[in-house]
Formats: sequence, structure tokens, C-alpha cells
Amino acid sequence: MYYPKLRLRRLRRTEKLRGLIRETRVSVNDIIYPLFVIEGDNLKMPISAMPDQFRFSIDLLLEEIGQVEKAGIHAIILFGLPKEKDAIGSQAYAIDGIIQRALRSIKKTFPDIVVITDVCLCEYTDHGHCGFIRDNQIDNDESTKLLAEIALSHAQAGADIVAPSAMMDGQVAEIRKKLDENGFQETGIMAYSAKFSSAFYGPFREAADSCPKFGDRKSYQMDMANGREALREVELDIAEGADMVMIKPALPFLDVIYRVRQICHCPIVAYNVSGEYAIIKAGGSANWIDYKEAMLECMICIKRAGADLIITYFAKELAKYLNEVE
Ligand code: PBG
Repeated sequence: MYYPKLRLRRLRRTEKLRGLIRETRVSVNDIIYPLFVIEGDNLKMPISAMPDQFRFSIDLLLEEIGQVEKAGIHAIILFGLPKEKDAIGSQAYAIDGIIQRALRSIKKTFPDIVVITDVCLCEYTDHGHCGFIRDNQIDNDESTKLLAEIALSHAQAGADIVAPSAMMDGQVAEIRKKLDENGFQETGIMAYSAKFSSAFYGPFREAADSCPKFGDRKSYQMDMANGREALREVELDIAEGADMVMIKPALPFLDVIYRVRQICHCPIVAYNVSGEYAIIKAGGSANWIDYKEAMLECMICIKRAGADLIITYFAKELAKYLNEVE
């Protein structure tokens, strides 16, 4: 009896062979581009801890979205910086708030692009927390009411999907109820389900000016040490009516993405956050790593772990790269 020696290298010989047996691919259809919008005109302000990312006024945001669409990306997620902040984040649900106005302009100019909006209070409150504060505590149930107001105002302005990111218990149920009661049954919910309290959000907080003025977010965002608890968060959000669930950050939590994939049949989104972006950019600009290869490796590995969609600041560059390779 002849026992052939197993030679896995046989199928790795050429790029064409490798392409034939490649198990995981990233496409422009999987990518969601985060964008920051500010008040004013003709503004494109760099974000120092996020090279090549900007905060745009609405007019220039439209130009940027034109380029994004041309690159083949079909979905964006919006973050707003209001003209003023207060204790209850009232600009977050104002009819003429920055996000609400941006949404109307975007939908008029680009009716087909999928627009997702971040639903949170931290960019809009003067204390920088993601909820409503009473007696120095975050009042969970008051916060979910405000979050539902924000979500409704986004839906009214044209959002396709709202993405609650405050990590308040019951926020998805409260938002689903509010949307349904007001005739927005078709507006989807992308729940930031397993959002961990993470050092990797640092650059975003500079970009969105959303750093908490006291304390930290550990009483609402998850402890990084907990994997099983993430599964409970996901199960709860699905029961409350989430259409998609998210794990965030992505790279330090690939095991969580994998575990969620085993229990969940709805689309899974991974948020490749600002700090993950910044370190790869920094490594690349110092010539310590091959920036493009590192970026692609991260994207493929996030998908291999089980994510369907990736929110990433690399979106535009990645699309350019993918278009070149195709
Ligand atoms: C708002 C929010 C944050 C991020 C997305 N939505 C910041 C935070 O929780 O402090 C972070 C995204 C990133 O780092 O890229 N709650």
C-alpha cells in the first residue's frame, strides 16, 4: 500500500492557485466608512491622531461621499459634532441638528447610499457621557428615552439604519418601539451590542470631542475580560429587535466575533476602531510595517473570524486597493 505524503504546499505554488482556494475575501460590499460632520462651510479639518481622516462641513462631506461612492462603497456611518453641548445633549435630537441636516442633504444628493447614524449622547453632552446624568449617576431608563428621540429624529431625516452605541440596557427595545409607533417600521437597527470599554477609542474621542469630563465609561461599556457576557448582550439585543449586531473594537476581540458567529444568524458587524487604525498608520509611516499588507491582513482576519461587515477608516484606501487587485 502506497501512502502519499500530504503536500499542502502544492496548492500554494502560484497566486492563481492560491486565489482558487482562498476561503475568505473582502469586498467593497462588506465595508462601511465612518465620517465626521461639523458645523460651518468649506471645512475639511484634519484629525491629528487619525492621519488621512477629516471632519467635514456638510458641503465638503457631500464631495467626499461622491468619491466614496465612486470607489464602490455603498454604506457610511455618520458622527456629528454639534454647535453647542448641554447636560441633556439636546442638539442630538434637534430637527436642525448637524446630523439631521447632513442626512437631508446626503439623501437629496445620493439617494441610494446606505446611511447609518451613530445614536449616542457623548458628542452632544457637556459632561461627555453617553447617557443622562442624575445625582452623578447615569440614569439608564431616562437615557434610553433620549436615545429613542435621537433615533426617531434620524429616521425622520432619512437614515436607513440607526446604530445605538450608548450601551444602555434596553436601548434597542426602546428605539424599536419609538420607530414603530411613528411609522418607521422600515428603519433598521444596527446594535453596538458588545462594545467594550477600550483604550483603542482614544483617537475617536479627539475627533468627536467626546471624552468624558469625569470618570470613565466602565459602568456601561463592557469589561474587556468578559466573553460570555458579550454573548448575553448579543442575545438580548436580538430579542429586543436588533437587525444586526456589532462587536467593537475588532482586532483585540476576534474570539468574541467568532463566538458570536456560532450563536447568531443575523449579520455581524465588526468595528475596526480609531486606535486600531492609528497604530497601523503610525507603523506604516515609520516604515516599520508594510502598511497596505497590514491593513489587508487585518480586514481578512476580521472576516475570517466571522464578521459579515466591517466599519473601518481604511474604507476608501481599501476600496482603491481592492479595485486595483481585481
Ligand atoms: C460613541 C462612540 C465611540 C466610538 C463610536 N461611537 C466612542 C466611545 O465610546 O468613547 C468609537 C469609535 C472609534 O474609536 O473609532 N459612544
